[in-house]
Amino acid sequence: TTLSFTLDPQNVISAIDPRLFGSFIEHLGRAVYTGVYEPEHPQADEDGFRQDVIELVKALHVTTVRYPGGNYVSGFNWRDSIGPKEERPVRLDYAWISKETNQFGIDEFARWCEKTGVEPMIAVNLGTGTPQEAGYFAEYCNHPGGTTLSDLRIQHGRREPYNFHLWCLGNEMDGPWQTGQMNAKEYAIKARETAKILRCIDPQAQLVACGSSSSAMTTFPEWDRIVLEELYDYVDFISCHQYYENEGSETDFLASFVNMDNFIETIVSTANYAKAVRRSNKDMMISFDEWNVWYLRGDPWDAPMKDPANRFRVAPPLLEDRYSFLDALVMGGLLCSLLNHADRVKMASLAQLVNVIAPIFTEPGKGALCQTLFWPFEMVASVSDGVVLRHQLPVPTFTSKYGDARSVQSSVVYNEARGEIYLFAVNCDFTTSFELDINLPAFSDCRLKEHKVLRSDDLYAKNTFDDPNRVSPDIIDYPHGSLRENTVTLAPLTWNRITL
Ligand code: AHR
Repeated sequence: TTLSFTLDPQNVISAIDPRLFGSFIEHLGRAVYTGVYEPEHPQADEDGFRQDVIELVKALHVTTVRYPGGNYVSGFNWRDSIGPKEERPVRLDYAWISKETNQFGIDEFARWCEKTGVEPMIAVNLGTGTPQEAGYFAEYCNHPGGTTLSDLRIQHGRREPYNFHLWCLGNEMDGPWQTGQMNAKEYAIKARETAKILRCIDPQAQLVACGSSSSAMTTFPEWDRIVLEELYDYVDFISCHQYYENEGSETDFLASFVNMDNFIETIVSTANYAKAVRRSNKDMMISFDEWNVWYLRGDPWDAPMKDPANRFRVAPPLLEDRYSFLDALVMGGLLCSLLNHADRVKMASLAQLVNVIAPIFTEPGKGALCQTLFWPFEMVASVSDGVVLRHQLPVPTFTSKYGDARSVQSSVVYNEARGEIYLFAVNCDFTTSFELDINLPAFSDCRLKEHKVLRSDDLYAKNTFDDPNRVSPDIIDYPHGSLRENTVTLAPLTWNRITL
């Protein structure tokens, strides 16, 4: 089947905010301890950070990292995580029924971000926490000095403020699993008062309100409407969270991007409605700050933790999903959804980054591995510093539980400075190859430069320490090197990046 379509450099959806390629590290399982922080590891640096992991995070081209949770943040006391390590308390973590040593805290996270070259995104506790405590936390972190809390930071060895400017106002406060769950109105009022304090301390602060923690919540999208109407003038972003898993139908699973498209479009509509109610001139942006494949049903996290033998362990192995080639294809489709909504989705966080539902997997004391998921993210994030172009691939659709899904989910990025176009595409069809006939009338002498593909003859192939590159990208050889002489083919069940 041949697909003919035209690309026009003027037909721009939006410039891409680099923060679309963020990720997330929570105090959960082995994300922090033996993930990013392992002082006894042979490759640990003077701060105890695993340098092998830092190198992989850099290679992934992650731009922001959300911290310290997640569900964890709703019982987190920031004061436990500052000052001399030997004086920090050991606490029970209510979210993950674990023991928290606080040996990695705010200062360590800030240093790790500086070494890794990522921007921190800090969540405040609006579960057990108060607006006042969130303010004290921001003052400790960002105020230059001359107050008790800012001087305490200086006394702890950090003269310059951390200058955290991205703040999440709590986490998933609509969820019954959340410590301190509230209804939408209660949350909105608490978040509004917190926003006032944070903006007073840091006029540059960019604030994210909790949206629905999944489009399957019974309160969706009413939660978002109420929160947005109350908070519209106080925040810059509303969050979306959504995880996908293979529930038995590979076809439905491959169509996950339809759900993400619909979720984003519903939140955009809800935000636009709130904009009208508030008589505002501002567009509310989306922070899709938790998204991924997560085998939530197959591997409920609470079962191992509720086993008396496993309760309240330090850094127990939790949510350590091992990803397949099929999971990577699904991720490709989701990345295209985020890109195609780059006009409203300005930030996103792949949840999470290391060990916990993550593209990077470590063994304590030993190596680190790129899971299959690493590759689609890397293939997009490493080149997507341009604009997204609108395009129309005339593809057939297939039926899924989310409704009709396009057989090829795709996105096009144009970087004018480099003179390069990138077409990202996942072919969800099990048998059909699609040949692309790309018309580029407005681009002078654009030639096919590279076709990178993620492919496997086994949908369930995984990367392991014995076979770490089993699922990794290949470059397809086009002998004549020119579009006019070659046809670009999307083979069945492949993830592709075509550079022109
Ligand atoms: O990422 C794992 C968990 O998923 C987070 O802690 C929570 O916010 C979400 O439910």
